[in-house]
Amino acid sequence: MTRLIDGRAIAAALRAAVAEQVARLGYRPGLAVVLVGEDPASAVYVRAKDRAAGAAGIAAQTRHLPADTSEADLLAVIAGLNADPAVDGILVQLPLPPHIRARAVIEAIDPAKDVDGFHPINVGRLHDGVAALVPCTPLGVMKLLAAADVSLRGARALVLGRSAIVGRPMAALLTAADATVTVAHSRTRDLAAECRRAEVVVAAIGRAEMVRGDWIAAGAAVIDVGINRLPDGRLVGDVAYAEAAEVAGAITPVPGGVGPMTIACLLENTVRAAMARRDP
Ligand code: GUN
Repeated sequence: MTRLIDGRAIAAALRAAVAEQVARLGYRPGLAVVLVGEDPASAVYVRAKDRAAGAAGIAAQTRHLPADTSEADLLAVIAGLNADPAVDGILVQLPLPPHIRARAVIEAIDPAKDVDGFHPINVGRLHDGVAALVPCTPLGVMKLLAAADVSLRGARALVLGRSAIVGRPMAALLTAADATVTVAHSRTRDLAAECRRAEVVVAAIGRAEMVRGDWIAAGAAVIDVGINRLPDGRLVGDVAYAEAAEVAGAITPVPGGVGPMTIACLLENTVRAAMARRDP
């Protein structure tokens, strides 16, 4: 029997746990979300982050800057947030307009406030296997695997995709959990064959329903990070869900799988940053 991994329920439980933790802190952790420009999808994500943070008792502020904001002006905003003692976490929504170098902006964020875990210091710590602020989406995937009782020690895990936001940190986390990890990507010679060998598949390649049912080993755990809109308006993942669900041991749906976990993990990272800043 295939188990459905219910990201909505698991994320709701995590948000409730974060809210309880915040209530015990005696202060309100602060989260600043910076949005540059008018990308509609980014605006939806930022509103959702703001709402979830507020519901958990986190003091959230959104800085919405115009699309023609210069890199220097954005860096000045970051410097102000770095220096603001009420701000524990800073998140700059990506993508940024093309005239701004995302790398320069990420590197300007105080690593202790980098709740996205994108600063090179936090990336390095993660790969060194020491405590770090970890990118929210792969962290959410690890929590889904744990909630579904997927055993990682010694397991063959395949990460499809090598992005800085998901694929690379995902591989580091699975490695730290004692999985045997392969990272496959658009240049991999035989993706299907790599996939068929895997007991755990994390798909984060950004191609609608690319992973077919006959790519999945019987009983494998399948985590679908993809969110793709089809021409008919439907939202689908990187995995052909109906086909894969026939063979997988456990699988996440899209929507309602990984997506809700990302924001819940952002709240958890904000509380972690707040506590670490007060008690380093
Ligand atoms: N854009 C898409 N995913 C993310 C994310 O996890 N963090 C930020 N800051 N921007 C994103």
